[in-house]
Amino acid sequence: MVVSKKIKELQEKRNQILLGGGQQAIEKQKAMGKRTARERILGLLDKDSFIEYDLFVEHDARDFDMDKKSLPSDGVIIGSGTIHGDPVAVYAQDFTVAGGSLGMMHSRKITKIMDYALKMRMPLIGINDSGGARIQEGVNSLAGYGEIFFRNTISSGVIPQISVILGPCAGGAVYSPALTDFVFVVENISKMFITGPEVIKTVLGEEISMEDLGGARVHSEVTGNAHFFAKSEEECFAQIKRLLTFIPWNNSTGTKIIESCEPDPSYDPEKIVPDDPTLPYDVRDVIRSVVDKSDFFEVMEMYARNMVIGFARIGGVTAGFVANQPMEMAGVLDVDSSDKAARFIRFCDAFNIPIITFMDLPGYLPGVDQEHAGVIRHGAKILYSYCEATVPKITVILRKAYGGGYIAMGSRHLRADFVFAWPAAEIAVMGPEGAANIIFRKEIMSSDDPEEMRKQKVAEYKTKFANPYVAASRGYVDAVIEPGETRRFLLHAIKSTANKAVKMISKKHGNPPF
Ligand code: HXC
Repeated sequence: MVVSKKIKELQEKRNQILLGGGQQAIEKQKAMGKRTARERILGLLDKDSFIEYDLFVEHDARDFDMDKKSLPSDGVIIGSGTIHGDPVAVYAQDFTVAGGSLGMMHSRKITKIMDYALKMRMPLIGINDSGGARIQEGVNSLAGYGEIFFRNTISSGVIPQISVILGPCAGGAVYSPALTDFVFVVENISKMFITGPEVIKTVLGEEISMEDLGGARVHSEVTGNAHFFAKSEEECFAQIKRLLTFIPWNNSTGTKIIESCEPDPSYDPEKIVPDDPTLPYDVRDVIRSVVDKSDFFEVMEMYARNMVIGFARIGGVTAGFVANQPMEMAGVLDVDSSDKAARFIRFCDAFNIPIITFMDLPGYLPGVDQEHAGVIRHGAKILYSYCEATVPKITVILRKAYGGGYIAMGSRHLRADFVFAWPAAEIAVMGPEGAANIIFRKEIMSSDDPEEMRKQKVAEYKTKFANPYVAASRGYVDAVIEPGETRRFLLHAIKSTANKAVKMISKKHGNPPF
């Protein structure tokens, strides 16, 4: 076939740019187990769907001999394509070009695709692999970050924003991912930190590796900055695609409703929770026992494990699940678990995803550490987020529901639309042992057999208060149900709340205890 001169010229120009930072830099990238920026985009989007924009953009920096340097595509690839057949906008920083550093034109490309995603109301996926602000471009680089942060913020709650950390994400650059809804990290590849090991050594005299400072595990287990942890880029992309099966494309489309499927019968709700209230169990099995295909997609699995959050479908409809995990610290609420649940609830509320809460907790975690870490402020976040959420809110009290924990975990008083309780539910100000010791102290102390008297009083308290029937008699609980009836009641609640309409007091915005 004869190719015209102009087309040949275009092809040559394109091919030159597609080499990015050159073969040597690409080999270095691969040696680290990383794919190139374009390979990443092509691996993530539907086959043949990606269209790249601004391939020919170049930097226009002049200082530090930059005028003599060509940086293909200015180190970032932007464009759009589809995932599961629906449009998404994407950018990927190209570390092979000046370390993916962010100069002015680089940032303009990112903000262009962010504006596009917001205008077209489609999810934005940002793949970060960068040395941060391009040092040679000074304040223009900093301005670029500011422009990105601004767009992250105004897009928040309108379109889902996903950050994928596939290399270094250093300095202020970390704040764009931190402003987005979901952060994905990959073992040995992702690094996020404000000040790197060099600076820490200079300023503090401490030696620490990049991995120990801000590797994938650190952000998944310790800081809570990451929502999903993968062992390879491939696994990470599969997780992103899976997430996108549950969440909507923007805040007005709603999630896709698919055909309802029964749960796997091997998860029997009657058999998961032990009769003895002191024994633990895995609350994820309770979730699996009621959701379609028992398919539960957990978010932040490795962080604050005493709280479980994630997505699943019930009757074909996506719901966000928030559940205390009795297997970890008896499922208490603490600083980290409150933060974890609160932000998830706000995501669900912003994107019209009903919230189903499974409650089983002894309350807020006592102790000096928690008090000094700000459990009052952090614990208030979960209260705030449940109160302000106007999506359908359905709560099932499985077992313990004590004190502030009872109120905080999506109680009727925070405007749950439906509250169901299992027969073993214990709804009270505190656990029977502690309560009996306080209110019957005189009787116990003055008894001939204090231990026997204590036992009697604990039993008396249990019969009187540690059950679901007092709350049910006040209408705080709508129905006391058998565990095996839970899916039926949840299906009813999801159906009944589908057209829920709540008008909150008009205001500019509230002031949650951030
Ligand atoms: C310009 C940069 C760069 C940067 C890397 N490069 N970071 N160029 N500005 N910020 C270039 C290198 O000079 C090198 O160019 C190429 O990218 C690859 O970098 P290497 O150092 O060879 O790679 P590696 O050994 O893998 O180390 C990666 C790294 C390191 C850990 C990211 O490059 C690094 O520490 N960079 C600086 C990180 C940083 O402190 N950034 C500024 C943060 S402050 P050649 O030509 O040799 O291939 C910030 C403020 C933002 O971001 C504030 C916003 C509010």
